[in-house]
Amino acid sequence: MKLLFLQGKGGVGKSTLAFLFALTLQKAGRVVGIRDLDPQKSLTAWLTDTEGFELQEDGEIIIIDSPPRIDDPLVLAAICEADRILIPTTPSPAELATLRHSAGVVASNLKAGAKAWVVFNRVKKSTTYGKNLESLAASLPLPAAKNSISDREVYKHVLLDGWIALDGAAKEEIMNLALEIQ
Ligand SMILES: Nc1ncnc2c1ncn2[C@@H]1O[C@H](COP(=O)(O)OP(=O)(O)OP(=O)(O)O)[C@@H](O)[C@H]1O
Ligand SMILES: [Mg+2]
Repeated sequence: MKLLFLQGKGGVGKSTLAFLFALTLQKAGRVVGIRDLDPQKSLTAWLTDTEGFELQEDGEIIIIDSPPRIDDPLVLAAICEADRILIPTTPSPAELATLRHSAGVVASNLKAGAKAWVVFNRVKKSTTYGKNLESLAASLPLPAAKNSISDREVYKHVLLDGWIALDGAAKEEIMNLALEIQ
């Protein structure tokens, strides 16, 4: 199964979520392969530095990270071959234009049997938009995942300290999202 993280906008959490999924799924006993399409290679660097993580190309689940360019031929090819696609966004109306464009390109290139979701990332439940994710998702050409990812300091610490940095609540929300899209 190929799981692609993509968004035309930078800094929305593509590599962070790809990293968290890689770690969580390998911890859960799955054989995880990594394909890093971003020339900056953040995901590769983070995983290389993570103690205990076995970095390899092949696996039953191939996690693909991508640069913030939806028109890149490599990214378009990855959309066409992915089985699952997650499009992270922060929950803000300011993100809706790029998000709608990315979701539209994904929706019209999805292969038969594949599925794609928008994922709200860096959610703060106490804020207006954190409480109204459904209204933000209402006009998008793809569904939003029911499980969103919160804004948590541990998602920064995990890059330095690895799996032990994650508390129970963080592990649970990543696993819930992984189960939702499987
Ligand atoms: N859920 C989160 N909680 C806290 N910080 C987060 C979260 N998700 C992402 N970040 C932070 O946001 C920043 C951008 O994240 P990331 O590098 O994953 O984005 P990206 O979409 O891969 O960016 P680019 O397009 O430049 O590759 C990083 O500093 C990361 O630690
Ligand atoms: Mg990235």
